[in-house]
Amino acid sequence: MNIIIVGGPGAGKGSLAKLIAKDFKLVHVSSGDIFREMALQKTELGDYIGDRINQGMLLPDDLVDWIMMKHINKAHPKNGFILDGFPRTRTQSESLVQSMHIDMVISVKATAETVVTRLCGRYMCEKCGVIHNKIWHDISKCRECGSPLYQREDDKEEAILKRIADYNKQFAPILKFFHGLKKCQMLEIQSDLSDNPENIYKKFLEQYGKAH
Ligand code: AP5
Ligand code: MG
Repeated sequence: MNIIIVGGPGAGKGSLAKLIAKDFKLVHVSSGDIFREMALQKTELGDYIGDRINQGMLLPDDLVDWIMMKHINKAHPKNGFILDGFPRTRTQSESLVQSMHIDMVISVKATAETVVTRLCGRYMCEKCGVIHNKIWHDISKCRECGSPLYQREDDKEEAILKRIADYNKQFAPILKFFHGLKKCQMLEIQSDLSDNPENIYKKFLEQYGKAH
């Protein structure tokens, strides 16, 4: 099963994608994680990617398509994949379906108040990438591997607002495109401030169960 998960910054795409990937034995491919990794490499391309990401700006479609297709093919997903953060524009959606079949599109919705609260509290493990939130986790070290945690550069207010504005422009055309294909199952999940990632996973399973 090949899934894409779409939603605004801080909606909870990464948190939900990890839970689905674990249970359904899918390969989790996160565009943001791939680009942050590339930004750490001291190359011209890495510096370019890092600068744009830190300002909360999208990367150009051609570059994103090239990097993401390379990673999806390299992952050799046996049972399928879950794509988190890609595609993020209609152009990227069109390129993806030219070479990959998509079975399901999950859209995660959250209010601006919810995402700003979450993003200001998000801390990532610098070694294994596990996502924490100071609202309910101890952030002195990683709960999985004990390594130090860090905050993302783009989790600052100015970059968050830029990311939300881009998302608001791109989201409807992406959903319209996949809906129009009439080949993908479309699931919508509302993620509220009172939810935690496990609640959201339960909401996903309920909807998935109804549809299968
Ligand atoms: P990316 O890393 O994909 O960032 P994003 O889309 O802005 O999304 P986030 O990772 O911030 O949020 P998320 O929805 O994954 O939430 P999470 O689960 O972490 O991309 C970064 C940048 O790379 C982009 O801005 C762009 O520059 C570039 N880029 C990437 N893909 C691109 C593309 N295709 N085209 C062009 N450019 C691209 O959760 C957030 C927090 O909330 C966490 O602390 C978590 O613990 C908490 N939380 C999650 N779920 C819940 C819940 N249900 N209840 C309570 N708290 C929750
Ligand atoms: Mg993410």
